[in-house]
Amino acid sequence: MYERYFGLTGKPFRLHPDPEFFFGSQGHSSAYSYLKYGVFQGEGFMVITGEIGAGKTTLVRTLLSKLDTAQVVSAQVVSTQLQADDLLRTTALAFGLRAQGLDKSQLLATLEAYFTQLAVQGRRALLVVDEAQNLSPHAMEELRMLSNFQIDEQALLQSFLVGQPELRDLLRLPALRQLRQRIIASYHLGPMSEAETRGYIEHRLKHVGYVADPRIEEAAFLAFHETTGGIPRRINMLANRVLLATYLADQHDIHAVDVYQAAREMGDEIGPDILPSAQMPTSLAQAQVQQEVMARADGLPLIHARLDQLERGIAEILEHLRTKDAQHEPPPREALVGATLRQVPK
Ligand SMILES: Nc1ncnc2c1ncn2[C@@H]1O[C@H](COP(=O)(O)OP(=O)(O)OP(=O)(O)O)[C@@H](O)[C@H]1O
Ligand SMILES: [Mg+2]
Repeated sequence: MYERYFGLTGKPFRLHPDPEFFFGSQGHSSAYSYLKYGVFQGEGFMVITGEIGAGKTTLVRTLLSKLDTAQVVSAQVVSTQLQADDLLRTTALAFGLRAQGLDKSQLLATLEAYFTQLAVQGRRALLVVDEAQNLSPHAMEELRMLSNFQIDEQALLQSFLVGQPELRDLLRLPALRQLRQRIIASYHLGPMSEAETRGYIEHRLKHVGYVADPRIEEAAFLAFHETTGGIPRRINMLANRVLLATYLADQHDIHAVDVYQAAREMGDEIGPDILPSAQMPTSLAQAQVQQEVMARADGLPLIHARLDQLERGIAEILEHLRTKDAQHEPPPREALVGATLRQVPK
């Protein structure tokens, strides 16, 4: 909606985890290096955890989009898909294998045959399980069984487990001791710093042709960090909102108050668990009140002119009373009209 108004070539803050927009903050870059290292190891489990909306799926998709498919064949499953089905069947389907009507041992045999065939071709299999915090210990155990497949001491499958912080608690369960021993590296994706939040916003904007319209003041970038805690999805939601409001107000500048105001409105609408409320700094709040007062003061010159007129009218009456009192003459009509009829607007 606002893209054309700001001369942008596309939507800068979509919620889709799109590798095209990947921004390498320190955390995202480190996590990316860990995953790459994991792919070269070619075995065991890599674990990536992070807060909701921290960028886990984007990270993994970015890596997968860069892998050479002649060397690595990857498949992704999302654990929410597993409710009606088991992990082995979903995995077989994700690798493009037929799984209908097969029981557990047949599924295992099918998967092993496929992975062996890849190994013979000099390729490796990589399974990414997203939202892995929702896996049951039983499903985890099935994953461990898959990781047992080997040919000439070389593992046939490698797995990435990606999920919210609860995944770490799940992996600490005593029942998952064996799987835990196969974890080769894990990384927790934290929020972005103030400087990174600014870099992130500018990066996404520049990707769609941004050239300083709208102008975003320094304090507004800080406000973005303050209100979102440096979490990419929250930044996208809020930035979208702020850009839309700026467009609707026919403005080309974004100030910190605009960001705080949009954040407050969004927090009220979608709940503080998604966008926690951040207090607007007192100095900004005062400035905003002052701005509102100034806006309302647009009609002040008119009011002043009328007060002057009124004052003059009263002065004339007083003067008349002083000089003409003895003669009992009434004050001039114009003075009375000025004093009584011309009322100050509310
Ligand atoms: N490094 C990044 N570069 C560019 N955009 C990012 C980055 N990280 C996250 N985003 C954006 O933030 C939003 C949320 O990212 P993503 O879906 O990857 O988070 P997540 O951690 O997988 O969330 P969830 O916990 O809900 O699964 C998406 O719009 C995505 O494009
Ligand atoms: Mg995700």
